[in-house]
Amino acid sequence: MNKNIKESFEKTRIAGSIAAGALDEVSKIIKPGISTGEIDNLCYEFINDHGAYSAPLFYRGFPKSCCTSANHVVCHGIPSDKILDEGDILNVDVTAYKNGWHGDTSRMFEIGEISIKAKKLIETTYEAMMKAIKILKEDVQLGDIGSTIQQHVESKGCSVVQDFCGHGIGQTFHKEPTILHYGKKETGEKIKEGMIFTIEPMINLGNYETKTLNDGWTAVTKDKSLSAQFEHTVGITKDGYEIFTQSKN
Ligand code: MF3
Ligand code: CO
Ligand code: CO
Repeated sequence: MNKNIKESFEKTRIAGSIAAGALDEVSKIIKPGISTGEIDNLCYEFINDHGAYSAPLFYRGFPKSCCTSANHVVCHGIPSDKILDEGDILNVDVTAYKNGWHGDTSRMFEIGEISIKAKKLIETTYEAMMKAIKILKEDVQLGDIGSTIQQHVESKGCSVVQDFCGHGIGQTFHKEPTILHYGKKETGEKIKEGMIFTIEPMINLGNYETKTLNDGWTAVTKDKSLSAQFEHTVGITKDGYEIFTQSKN
């Protein structure tokens, strides 16, 4: 591994561990009765206390430090004084920017007891992301990533959102390549050692279609079915991968 790749991995590891650490903190305060705004405050504080910036804050006019997407919200939910209730499911998506590099990660949180259907959706989404990560190494094709996710998700009767995708990340928050979470095996660009990108499938219990609300950000399922998402930032090596946003728990 050359010096540039080593350095970019080192920097992403630091930003990624701050982003993951923020989610570890969120997990400690999540319960029925707290607001998504309180989660946002905690993310802001944690990221700042670690000498980093929150990349979403003011990104293309986004007003908060993280995205909080509950129930039928697919992604880009805006933290507010909305109170979380028993039975809700919530994605929190955090991106830390430190020493010029980004780390981007999201997880699902269960608010109190949730339905069996919701549990199944969350489990399927996590499995899909991890199955795709586990195939990563130099020369794997982008279509292999998408098809691994799509096959797993559809075998469980769920659907893959097509309107949002994973992305290259580094000194820029969103860059090439585009990582689709659906597709065909043995198609598309071959990934190479040193590439850093996110895998962040958004999976719906119902139909895959989404629409964006009037706030210009909040994406929801058209049929109001539940949606889940997980995200890791990963780096490609000759014979495998590194996950930069692993939880410490
Ligand atoms: N973190 C999101 C992603 O995974 C992007 C959020 S952009 C924002 O790419 F502006 F909505 F915060
Ligand atoms: Co991302
Ligand atoms: Co993200």
